[in-house]
Amino acid sequence: MQLIRVLRVTACAAISALSVCQAVLGDDFKRPKPAAIALACGGCHGTYGQGMGSIPAIRGIPESEFIRAMQDFQSSSRSATVMDRIARGYQHQDFVGLARFFRNR
Ligand code: HEC
Repeated sequence: MQLIRVLRVTACAAISALSVCQAVLGDDFKRPKPAAIALACGGCHGTYGQGMGSIPAIRGIPESEFIRAMQDFQSSSRSATVMDRIARGYQHQDFVGLARFFRNR
């Protein structure tokens, strides 16, 4: 399916961008702030997490529910087309920050 292919390429681009940053910045690399990470989410979910086409909205979700969703994607206990791979690129502290960020969009 075309959509799945587009999602896969976008997810790969988002994940690669983070690894390139880490490689370039080396020891000076600090975990990016939630607003910066959210830029990688906006390509699919919309700048404000409002959702785009068949991609669900992620703004306004209660924080605990958002964090649980990300943990479930990360552990593959929730089936996904791309979010399982995306979630594996982040740490728990990122989920907390992103949950707060998108809660207030
Ligand atoms: C390549 C496109 C893409 C990117 C980039 C992306 N997502 Fe998603 N997201 C999806 C899709 C598609 C789903 C539906 C689950 C699936 O099929 O993977 C989803 C589902 C979700 C859900 C569950 C929403 C619900 O209603 O249950 C959350 C939370 C979420 N994404 C957060 C994020 C965060 C945070 C980021 C950035 C770190 C992000 N996503 C980046 C495509 C994307």
